[in-house]
Amino acid sequence: MSIELRAATESLTYGMVGGGQGAFIGEVHRKAIGFDSSAELTCGCFSRDYKNTLATGTSLGIAQDRLYKNYKEMAEVEGRRSDSIDFVVIVTPNASHYPIAKLFLERGINVVCDKPFTVTTAQAEELVELAERNNLTICLTYTYTGYPIAKHVRDLVVAGELGDIRFVNAEYPQEWLSTLLEETDHKQASWRGDPDITGLTNSVGDIGSHIENMVSFMTGLKIERLSARLDTLVAGRKLDDNVTVMVDYHGGARGLYWCSQIAVGNDNGLRVRIFGSKGSIDWAQENPNYFNLCYLDKPLQRISRGRDALSPLAQSFSRVPAGHPEGYFEAFANIYKAFTSYLRKLKSGAAIEVEDKEFPTAADGLAGVHFIEKCVESSRSDSAWVKM
Ligand SMILES: NC(=O)c1ccc[n+]([C@@H]2O[C@H](COP(=O)([O-])OP(=O)(O)OC[C@H]3O[C@@H](n4cnc5c(N)ncnc54)[C@H](O)[C@@H]3O)[C@@H](O)[C@H]2O)c1
Repeated sequence: MSIELRAATESLTYGMVGGGQGAFIGEVHRKAIGFDSSAELTCGCFSRDYKNTLATGTSLGIAQDRLYKNYKEMAEVEGRRSDSIDFVVIVTPNASHYPIAKLFLERGINVVCDKPFTVTTAQAEELVELAERNNLTICLTYTYTGYPIAKHVRDLVVAGELGDIRFVNAEYPQEWLSTLLEETDHKQASWRGDPDITGLTNSVGDIGSHIENMVSFMTGLKIERLSARLDTLVAGRKLDDNVTVMVDYHGGARGLYWCSQIAVGNDNGLRVRIFGSKGSIDWAQENPNYFNLCYLDKPLQRISRGRDALSPLAQSFSRVPAGHPEGYFEAFANIYKAFTSYLRKLKSGAAIEVEDKEFPTAADGLAGVHFIEKCVESSRSDSAWVKM
């Protein structure tokens, strides 16, 4: 290992709750953190099943005395250690994010939490306040904000390249819940179908939250009011699987969102189209190294990461030359790269610049949960318009 890499790994450590063998996103987080040797994993409670935690932790080379039976013990013991972790990564199902994050924040440990942040706005507000009071940082892993091209889109829109934004059309279709998969032993589907574990909604919380976050990230638009319809189109399902939302933004722009888990033929089709008075942008997550840019009365252009000049900030997150696709892992790694650089700067006492916070924050998490809650509220009142 080079001296530079060793310095990077030795300066920050982290623990993980969730992400045991058989889980999905925890392993993605670990690989993403490993991409830039952003931090070293030193402890964990990877599952409610201690045998799984032991097996997962042992395979990752973690000392047995730092493999915990439950997250409460982990927060308690880690909070007291002189070499305590710099941050904890929470990759458990939705409803457990709040109690786990709360406990680690109370023990003085920074938090990385996957989305949705919590299941109620009140919980999210409490965590934001707790982190502020204890001088701690929360990072929300809204993955897609890590793509260099998404950052470039944001920088173009903020610079006014599209003129005044008039309309946004965003969608996130998937097909994986086209049948009652939650009634099989499918690990990820079964908790998503259970309101006690997933929260008030399934598809808005799971993928609608990515739409809300990406549009907000790329345009800076703030929602003034919305009208939502949460449908359950597979018979026997407890929660929504297909959702449409009309949105009015402050300032007059309009939006239309659609997320679906019953859209046969679609994998992870997050797509954002932004229409302004001077031009438009069309970006799709499954082809994240490119986007279409069109100025009024000009030919359509395809912008390519690596080939075309991106904004300096976006460029700094690009890793390989054009035509070598960067994807999901790199997007995740970019979030960790920014978050851990920020923590290192804080630790060293160096001055923090605005661009150091180039990762999704607790405020983004709170906005996401508020959006989810308002969609449910509207849908329960026959899609009435509700103010944010
Ligand atoms: N950012 C993204 O793109 C993205 C993608 C997928 C999932 N997610 C989010 O990540 C979270 C996890 O999703 P998943 O698909 O990996 O779920 P999963 O079911 O595959 O994994 C969850 C893990 O948490 C463990 N767990 C549950 N309760 C626990 C507890 N109290 N203590 C310790 N471990 C516990 C389970 O044993 C399992 O290992 C969800 O909130 C989901 O919305 C985000």
